[in-house]
Amino acid sequence: MKIMVPSKIVKSNSKRVQETQTSILRRTTLSKAGTTCTIIHGDSREELLAYAGKVDLIITSPPYADARHKHYDSIHPDKFAEWFMTFHEPFYRALKPTGSLILNIKDKVVDGVRHRYVWKTIELLCQNGWHSIDDYLWYKPNPMPGFWPTRLRDGWEYCFHLAKSKRPFFNPDGVRKPIGEWVDSRLKNLGKNDLSRHNSANASGFGRDLSKWVGKQTVLPSNVLSLALVGKNKGHPAVFPVDLPLFFIKLLSPENGFVVDPFSGSGTTGIAALSSGRSCILIDNNLVYCEEAVRRIQEEVAATPNEVKFEKHQVMYQLKFIKEQQKARR
Ligand SMILES: C[S@@+](CC[C@H](N)C(=O)[O-])C[C@H]1O[C@@H](n2cnc3c(N)ncnc32)[C@H](O)[C@@H]1O
Repeated sequence: MKIMVPSKIVKSNSKRVQETQTSILRRTTLSKAGTTCTIIHGDSREELLAYAGKVDLIITSPPYADARHKHYDSIHPDKFAEWFMTFHEPFYRALKPTGSLILNIKDKVVDGVRHRYVWKTIELLCQNGWHSIDDYLWYKPNPMPGFWPTRLRDGWEYCFHLAKSKRPFFNPDGVRKPIGEWVDSRLKNLGKNDLSRHNSANASGFGRDLSKWVGKQTVLPSNVLSLALVGKNKGHPAVFPVDLPLFFIKLLSPENGFVVDPFSGSGTTGIAALSSGRSCILIDNNLVYCEEAVRRIQEEVAATPNEVKFEKHQVMYQLKFIKEQQKARR
């Protein structure tokens, strides 16, 4: 379905005006403190063409293979890698040379066995030029309850970090965390061995120098993120917690950077981007989810409601322009 962008459709009949009005729903921009979040109803493969070389970070959770027929189109696990490769070029072209792609995804169990379509997808992406920088794990302390004859409760998902270059933008200081209370008690009485590098007793080559921790307030986190599943229904069946995109936005995009979620669902990435001072676009091919994203972002980011507003005045201006043109031609 072709999406009409208002500025492109200055035609002189009322049918066109109607189409323009529809496009108001398809593209909504919310703003907060100088940053914007544009929610686009469309296919991300088409919509991303307009953003070549502009994006710092694509962070997303694509539809699970076959998992959610009831809610949105899904792809058979055997076809998933092939389907996902139709997004490779639009994603790659949209990113700046220092840009990154974070894919939050988990393979599905098919007929009692873990299907490996996720590994296949990552392998194919790398064969097509992406660099596999690291594999992060999203650990869920509260996984879904249940019983399976050969498996336990599923408590984690992948977040693959892929990039256009081997040295993408990376700001670990953006995700430093408090060092934790253990330091106070452990470092209070340092022994002789703690004041210099203490090599491992079994000659493994590993060692530690605890004195280096003295006075430190923060520490770099590991590549395992512990984040509880979102409990409350956010108007979408597969919402990830805001802290997941927030972590990667702070780590992999500069302040004032530009972030995209090409499978944006209920708009979680938009909430994370606006609340960390980054502009973003969110794309989903389901209008209901786009509307939910607009509603959530207004509600959850609008600490001060005046700061978040529809930018309808721009569209209204274009409608006025079209109508004036029509009048002049009559
Ligand atoms: C797993 S959900 C994303 C959920 C999201 N992370 C959240 O927190 O709400 C995947 C989304 O991709 C959308 N989608 C599927 N194919 C698409 C396409 N070609 N272009 C844009 N969106 C698409 C679906 O409608 C669905 O909402």
